[in-house]
Parts: sequence; structure tokens; C-alpha cells
Amino acid sequence: MEAKQLRNKFLEFFKSKGHAVIRSAPLIPDNDPTVLFTTAGMHPLVPYLLGASHPAGKRLTDVQKCIRTGDIDEVGDPVHLTFFEMLGNWSLGDYFKETAIRNSFEFLTSKEWLGIPVDRLAFTVFAGDESVPFDEEAFNLWRSLGVAEKRIAKLGREDNWWGPAGMTGPCGPDTEMFYWTGPDPVPETFDPKNKLWVEIWNDVFMQYNKTADGTFEPLKQCNVDTGMGVERVTAILQGKKSCYDTELFAPLFAELDKLRGLAEAPAERCKSERIIVEHIRAATFIMADGITPGKVDQAYVLRRLIRRAIREAHQIGIQGSIAVPLSKIVIDNYSEAYPELEQYRANILLELEKEEALFSKTLENGTMEFEKFISRVPAHIQNKVVSGKNAFFLYETFGFPIELTVEMAAEKGFTVDMKGYEEAYRKHQELSRAGAEMKFKGGLADHSVETSYLHTATHLLHKALRMVLGDHVAQKGSNINAERLRFDFSHPAKVTPEELKQVEEIVNKAIADKLPIICEEMTLEEARQTGAIGLFGDKYGERVKVYSMGEFSKEICGGPHANNTGDLVGFHIMKEESSSSGIRRIKAKIDFKQEA
Ligand code: ALA
Repeated sequence: MEAKQLRNKFLEFFKSKGHAVIRSAPLIPDNDPTVLFTTAGMHPLVPYLLGASHPAGKRLTDVQKCIRTGDIDEVGDPVHLTFFEMLGNWSLGDYFKETAIRNSFEFLTSKEWLGIPVDRLAFTVFAGDESVPFDEEAFNLWRSLGVAEKRIAKLGREDNWWGPAGMTGPCGPDTEMFYWTGPDPVPETFDPKNKLWVEIWNDVFMQYNKTADGTFEPLKQCNVDTGMGVERVTAILQGKKSCYDTELFAPLFAELDKLRGLAEAPAERCKSERIIVEHIRAATFIMADGITPGKVDQAYVLRRLIRRAIREAHQIGIQGSIAVPLSKIVIDNYSEAYPELEQYRANILLELEKEEALFSKTLENGTMEFEKFISRVPAHIQNKVVSGKNAFFLYETFGFPIELTVEMAAEKGFTVDMKGYEEAYRKHQELSRAGAEMKFKGGLADHSVETSYLHTATHLLHKALRMVLGDHVAQKGSNINAERLRFDFSHPAKVTPEELKQVEEIVNKAIADKLPIICEEMTLEEARQTGAIGLFGDKYGERVKVYSMGEFSKEICGGPHANNTGDLVGFHIMKEESSSSGIRRIKAKIDFKQEA
């Protein structure tokens, strides 16, 4: 069975059990500062797990794109990935344990669905601890479905407790399902430590909310949250030993072989090859959700993934570009399910090209420098250490993510003085703090008439930029005070003086047209349907304000604004510059009418 069929079967099965199919949310979580990426299907659903009503109902199912970087060092072994797709289904205060377990069992074993023989399966349930009792109900349910007692392991909080996704939020005991990937006969007794038993699905019984002070309070409603990894289960159903051995990765490896000039595919893929294709696939998806490589947060993770892939490519002797050709294949293969990839194709490829050029140039020099540090340490020394100062030098001068230095050091039997590195990093930050006070905060400085008018001008500018440069232009930041607006947006190249002039003219025309400005409240879904631009998460049902300026612009926004574009006069662009990689910045002002 191919991944496509698995996804369809899963959604079909849960549809037949009364679940509504919802779309994957973006990889970058909205309004959750505790995590960088969406790590599970439940993540975008947190408000509903906490009790808000979901417009699609109480039973949901989807395929959610996820990023988990906790196991990045394991990537390249048979089962670990940073990007993966998670099949999930939810009961939001509707059915609970019994139906969840019965559904899981039916989907896995029924001939109509996956048809896995019960004998190849094993299960874990929560053993209980001082605060939550043994999950006897789950245990008995599996037994009642014909599972042998020897195939059900009772494990503690480490293994059979899930969540919260961030520091706080919904969580609870879970029951996991395992598949025997080893040779026949299947061992009678389930040993969860035996790696040949591979976890394929997890049913979480969300009954608690972990609060900021670390206590577990009962949730208003009991929820079910399940997660099944597409890549892993596809491999298992195809009898493959590794999740890299399916059609999801085959075209990427074929391209890699081409780039290496190999006439024939190697019998088995090495760790470097797997890291390269995995990381470029992950990077492509992250970029399709609007992130470009940079120095902090998601941008840093993205940079690290791309640079690690490039370095691995050098390790296996590839000199030319890898990121762009591999990314093209990811876009081609996944766009049907994730149209944002196609939508951002040009930007993704351009950013990758830039990042690859930037890093490839310095990789060699940095590696030479690194070798120099290493060669200065006499061979007989026992604890060989790369100093923090040198590690920081590699970061600052050659753009080596610290994790890369640690990895390269480990290959040579060295460790890195992390404390020293952090100190050097901190010192450097203090030196550049002068500008940090002015740090970009975003939003409006106040609600004066001047700032609201400049806010209106920002919407007009946003629209005009999209008209002149294209629909890839998206707001990346906005800062407005009484004198000027500052607008950051995605665009891969400098905006030419001619383009700026055109933009200015369009905005001034919209002002001259005296367009009425109206504000309407609606759900995000309705806003999406009206064609409003702005930040879309996937929180169905959430109410937002949409500001329309005649037929010219429609944007999701909290306001405030002028009443009519004719309240403004004379729009002028003062400056256009780079803000960060792939992000341009425009500063502009308007003339205010002189009061009579
Ligand atoms: N949220 C659960 C998991 O990610 C289903 O395993």
C-alpha cells in the first residue's frame, strides 16, 4: 500500500465513523510561544481540546504536517525524521476510551482496512503512578478484543503519557500500538525494549490540563487524540525495514544519484544520503510556511537543516548544488496535498539557492579553519576539546551552526566547550545591544489619528506591492508611529525604482478614489472565502475583523483605521532596503491635511 492510499483509507475510515475531515494547519503554530513548530496533529486543536466548540463538530480527522527536531541526531537511522505527516482523529468531549480503542483495532486489523493480523501486534497501557491510576479499562478493552495478555505491556509515565505539546496544555495517559517488523515467528511475549517492535499508533486519552505551575487539573471534557506516522506505517505495510525505503523518498534518492553521477542506485542508503533528502524535504515544507533561513527560532532551525544537508553532500563527494534540485522534487511530489508548496515555489528555490551559495563558499574555508584548531591539539591528550572561543569564531565567521561544529568535533574525537561558546556568544550580543533597544516590536505605537491613517496606508501599500510584484508578497512585520510606517514583506530581490514608483502611484490613486473603509466581523473561514489577505492559521471558527477599502483591499486586521482612504493625502516611499534574507523593508509616510 502506498502512502497516498494509507492517507485516504485513514480519512475514509474515520469519515465512516462520523468524523469531519479538516485541513492540515501550518507548521508554524499560531499564538503558541512555547514551541517553534507544530509537533503533532493535536497541536492546532488545543483550544478545542480545552473546551472551545469546533465548527466542524466533535469528531475530527486529518493529515497534519509536523516537525520534531528533538531527535535530529537520530535522523538517518531507519525510523527518525524531522518532518513527517501524522494521521490523526479526535473526539472533542464525545466518545472516549472504548470507542477509540475499538476504532483503532478495527482500522488496523479489519480486512476492509489495513488487515494486519492481530498476531503481529502488541500494545502498551499506562501502568499508573502516585497521581493517576493504572489504565485498567484500556487493558481490559484490548483483552476483550482478543489480544493476549502477554502482548500488553504496562508502562509508566515515560512511555505511556502524552503531552502537553508545549509547556502547558491538554495531556493524559495513552495506549500505544506496536507492529512486529522482525522475522517469523512473532515472539509470543511483547518486549517493548526490542526495537523490532515498532510503534505505529498512539491513542491519547486527554483528561488533564497541565497548568503553568505544573499541576494537572481535570479537563472540562474528556478527549481522544490519536497519531499515526504516515512514513513509518507506509514502510511497515510494504515490508520495508526503513521509512526511507518507500515511494516517498525514492524520487529524492534517484535525483541524488543523478547529482552524484551514479549510474546505479546503491544497494542501501547511507546515513548521509538519508540526512540530505530528509533535511531538504523538511526545509522545503518550513519555507512553504513563510520562514526564510536566519539566526533565531524557526529561521535558525531551517538554516541548520539546510547547512547540515549541504555538509553531508560534501562528505559524500557532491560538489554542486543539491538543495534546489531536491527541493523541486519535494514540491512536485507533495503539491497536490499541500498546495502552499507550489504557491511558494519560486521563493523557496530562490532562498535555497542563496543559502546554498552563502554556505558552500564558506564551508571549505571554515572546515580548513576547524582542522587547524584540531591539529594544534597534541594527539596524546585525553580529553580533546574545541574551545568555546573557536566554536564561536566558526559560527560568526563561517556561519557554522554550533551543532555542526559539535558534530564535526565528535567525528574527530573532540568535544566542544559549550559553556565557553555561550559566553563568547553572550559577549558578542552585549556588544551589539546598542541597536537592540530599538528592537522591532511590531504593531502600532499608539492609536492616534496619525498612526491609524498610516495603518490604512500600510494596507494600501501591501495591496499595491502584491499588484506590482506578485502574490508572493506577504507581510512579515509592521511598525507604525505618528511619523512613518515601516513594512516588512517577503520578496526575493531589491524592489526597483520603477516598481517603487508604480507602487506609490497605485496607493495615491486609491487615496484619490476616496474609498470607504468598512470593518466586518466573520470567521476565519469566511474571511478566507472573501479573499481577504492576512495571517491565516487554521483555527476554524475563530472570529476575526476584516477591513475592506472599497474593492481595492481586504485584509484581516484588528484596526484602527481611517474612515475613508480620502482622509489621507500624499503617500511617499522614503526608503526600500533589505531587512533580512528574502525580506524587504519599506519606510513610507503620508502628508497630513492641515487643519483649517
Ligand atoms: N498527540 C499524540 C502523539 O503525537 C497522538 O503521539
